[in-house]
Amino acid sequence: MTERRPFVVGNWKMNGTTASAHALVRDILQGLTEPTPAQVVVCPPYILIPKVVEQLAGTSVACGAQDIAQYSNGAYTGEVSAEMIKDSGCQYVILGHSERRTLYGETSEVVAHKFVRARRENLIPILCVGETLEEREQRQTEAVIRAQLDAVTDTAGIEALQTAIIAYEPVWAIGTGKTATPDQAQDVHKFIREYLSRLDSYIAQTIRILYGGSVKADNARGLFEQSDIDGGLIGGASLQAKDFLSICQAA
Ligand code: PGA
Repeated sequence: MTERRPFVVGNWKMNGTTASAHALVRDILQGLTEPTPAQVVVCPPYILIPKVVEQLAGTSVACGAQDIAQYSNGAYTGEVSAEMIKDSGCQYVILGHSERRTLYGETSEVVAHKFVRARRENLIPILCVGETLEEREQRQTEAVIRAQLDAVTDTAGIEALQTAIIAYEPVWAIGTGKTATPDQAQDVHKFIREYLSRLDSYIAQTIRILYGGSVKADNARGLFEQSDIDGGLIGGASLQAKDFLSICQAA
């Protein structure tokens, strides 16, 4: 079995101010005095990134963005490019989060273009995939995830996944308090690994696949113990240092 270092990624979404972000990062850094086995990443809103990067300098915690534009630069009012995110000191970027897909109509093709942009700037994409409740009930989970993965591998090539992370986030579990059971999550993670192995077995074995969707301090361990789950993408619980730190310790 290949060793995969676990990841715990905090997705702050549209939350925080300069003061609250400073306090949260301070408390996380204080609580992480023991080196954790997991690589810890926080993803603040764009406007807070420079300050958070400054605060994280010289620590083991890395910074990521929650999205990037699909274009490189130009007349795209309100957008932020991969180059800008790289320049701000981020190493990671979340792509294709279900809130982007559902609330902002991001298609898998758009996500694939963003993925290519991220890799060109040497940002590590955290590619989110996952099915809605309706799709799960219609037994479409695997088909949905296959299509989400195909869009990226068709456009960027399987090699691009060598430096990437996948996050399986069932849409019905995000922010709802309904976590997938460890078995339900493990089944999908295993499926993702098997599906990728038909293109490249080394990448399939080494890629980190995180679980996301109502991960909390009290359910993290059960999920992270599963053989194909390599950590978590944490929304709500990443906004409280105490909760986030317990999740980091569980990984
Ligand atoms: P949640 O969000 O932990 O609040 O469910 C997870 C996510 O959206 O990444």
